Amino acid sequence: MKEVEVALLGFGTVGSGTFSLLQTNAELIENRLGVRPHVSKIYVRNPQKYTDVTLPEGTVFTDSVDDVLGDETIRIVVEVMGGTTFARECVEKALKAGKNVVTANKDLLAEAGPYLLDLASKNGVDLRYEASVLGGIPIIRTLYDSLGGNKISELVGIMNGTTNFILSKMTEDGSNYDEVLAEAQALGYAEADPTADVEGLDAARKLAILSSIAFNRRIFFEDVHVEGITKIDSTDIAFGKEFGYTIKLLGIAKETKKGLSLNVHPAFISQQHPLAAVRGSYNALYVKGNGIDDAMFYGRGAGSLPTGSSVVSDIMEVTKNEAAQATGKLTPFFYPDKNLYASGKIESSYYMRLLVDNSTGVLAKVASKLAEQRISVQAVIQRNEDAQTATLAIVTSICPRSYILNVINAFNKLRVVKEVGSVIRIMAD
Ligand code: NDP
Ligand code: HSE
Repeated sequence: MKEVEVALLGFGTVGSGTFSLLQTNAELIENRLGVRPHVSKIYVRNPQKYTDVTLPEGTVFTDSVDDVLGDETIRIVVEVMGGTTFARECVEKALKAGKNVVTANKDLLAEAGPYLLDLASKNGVDLRYEASVLGGIPIIRTLYDSLGGNKISELVGIMNGTTNFILSKMTEDGSNYDEVLAEAQALGYAEADPTADVEGLDAARKLAILSSIAFNRRIFFEDVHVEGITKIDSTDIAFGKEFGYTIKLLGIAKETKKGLSLNVHPAFISQQHPLAAVRGSYNALYVKGNGIDDAMFYGRGAGSLPTGSSVVSDIMEVTKNEAAQATGKLTPFFYPDKNLYASGKIESSYYMRLLVDNSTGVLAKVASKLAEQRISVQAVIQRNEDAQTATLAIVTSICPRSYILNVINAFNKLRVVKEVGSVIRIMAD
């Protein structure tokens, strides 16, 4: 059977999952394609680390990237190392050498995706990146192809497995933040530097990649307004439950009359909302289109085999294109103007937690500061901490972010308010 030669750059969580799936399902994959994708070389910096891995005949580890990029027989380079400097260098070299590239690297795509897609197209090769967003959920090709006939108006998703795992565990068993983060790292969900997960950067990169496709604009990481989950407290999770909410880190891209707004932030959502049922390392994306109406895509957002599944699907797609001599045909269309809408102007209702004096008339003083900003109180819970101090958990009416920032300033000047604990958006159903 005809073979298409493939090389892996990296053999960690995703690289090993990809290789394992290619081996386990080799016969099925060959039968489906009529061509055999064959991994001949695997680049890693330190092959000594992999002495316990038994490779089949015809596959070798190499510590020389030039051995891969200079090999004319290799048609598909699979970049699963991560990082943006060396990985970008390798991807550019491979594309310029007329090799197709498959990558799982959202950092790279969110930094330079539109440029690299142009480069691939100029060199007549494919650049595919299904695994870069939502791990095992086939969403990139779905947006390009299956939903290609829709004008998309909104994407709302849980796009980071690590933070969803942490928030789910904190909500369900009252687990401690640091312990759950360590568990997510051990399970291979977290990035090498988990700051990217917990500060929302990873989700923002994924939102930038999806929005570029869904809205045909050159969207980069810097275009997304980001807030992470590090300030979320178990007290807020408990008050949220009393109000009927669950907390999630959401990525939201919304086409408004004034432009496209792009945000990643924690938000309370109703316990009845379908996204509330997305637990653990699972991810999900809601898409609103003018043909399909609402659609939701759900599955494992991280991990070795689920992510490997997406990488393998790209390898198969490119293998088919290679066999048909049809690579380099995907030339994405981008509008010249990004037309972004300032995220701070987006309206929402808010949850606020205040530590206040436990004395008569405090609630009225707090409510009057909210009223001065034209914000009304929808619900409030008061919990007495001791004879001097009480906690107020407040749900506000819908208002622009700027009103909330003003009222926080006013609270900070109010003598009876000891501390503004947290301020969290509430997503409308
Ligand atoms: P790992 O850290 O588990 O693996 C990285 C691999 O690349 C190792 O085998 C490492 O081997 C090799 N490598 C070779 N050169 C370099 C280099 N210069 N810098 C870093 N590594 C190098 O990463 P993952 O498999 O978790 O992630 C790979 C990519 O996939 C990243 O872009 C990540 O964001 C993305 N991704 C990860 C998911 C996951 O669930 N883990 C899900 C979706 C995407 P050695 O150290 O021996 O050189
Ligand atoms: N660190 C990422 C996550 C891996 O937790 O979702 C998948 O992209």
